[in-house]
Amino acid sequence: MKCVIPAAGLGTRFLPVTKAQPKEMLPVYDRPTIQYVIEEAIASGVDDILIVTGKGKRSIEDHFDRSFELEESLKESGKFDLLKTVEEISNLADIYYIRQKKQKGLGDAIYCAKKHIGDEPFAVMLGDIITKSDVPCTKQLIDLSQKHDSSVIAVEKVPNEKVERYGIIGGTEVSEDVYKVDTLVEKPKVNEAPSNLAIMGRYVLYPELFDHIENTELGVGGEIQLTDAMAKLDSMHANVFNGRSYDIGNKIDWLKTSIEFALEDNESKGILLDYIQEMMK
Ligand code: UTP
Repeated sequence: MKCVIPAAGLGTRFLPVTKAQPKEMLPVYDRPTIQYVIEEAIASGVDDILIVTGKGKRSIEDHFDRSFELEESLKESGKFDLLKTVEEISNLADIYYIRQKKQKGLGDAIYCAKKHIGDEPFAVMLGDIITKSDVPCTKQLIDLSQKHDSSVIAVEKVPNEKVERYGIIGGTEVSEDVYKVDTLVEKPKVNEAPSNLAIMGRYVLYPELFDHIENTELGVGGEIQLTDAMAKLDSMHANVFNGRSYDIGNKIDWLKTSIEFALEDNESKGILLDYIQEMMK
């Protein structure tokens, strides 16, 4: 299966950090965010990845490209562990790039992938969301999509006060944690929301979506919303994600995620805990 990673957004919630660098390249502990996304794609069996980039996003391409000068220098100085790490990154997968010329919204970013995708179902993975689970999130969606012959999106229960920030689904539970979706609303008021199940950034979509994006008017925030186009799909299921997701698109969640990931690494755990205890004093 092919996958599209939209990563062209302006990242305004993270300014000024994102003025000249992509938020998708912000490090979470020991890797840039988008590397976790690519690793999830590969673990899900995706073998063709298209990243939608834009102005100021060159470092994404450079990160996954080979860097001969750096490799030579690491070789000369005998830093073979680092050399291996650097080489592994550029061998991860077949990665293609396309530029979204104007940031007109997520729906428009996905539309940029139309030619590359062709006529098959495809995965979409937001470049600023990391997931963690036993079975990779995108793999769960691919399996369900094949089972139901339908587009499938991952959702998570969010508290009422957060409902207004997300696309929200409504529908009927057809099996444990799987819903047949009949309503999709982008950023509803809490009293108008059909549920508190929020779309969390992983999708498997059928290619007729592209026709729906073409016919989608500007939505919330004056953007072409993916949610509005998805609402027109013939068949859509939602999977309540059995795992954890991390949105690094805002400062505090990025910081919490970095700390959590560092605490999971035995090498840094003790040092970090000592430091936190010191700060608490
Ligand atoms: P977000 O809405 O989180 O990204 O989109 P944003 O627009 O950069 O964020 P803020 O609100 O200004 O802080 C989710 C993903 O979709 C991409 C983003 O790069 C992000 O990875 N995106 C968003 C695009 O590729 N193009 C767009 O026009 C909008």
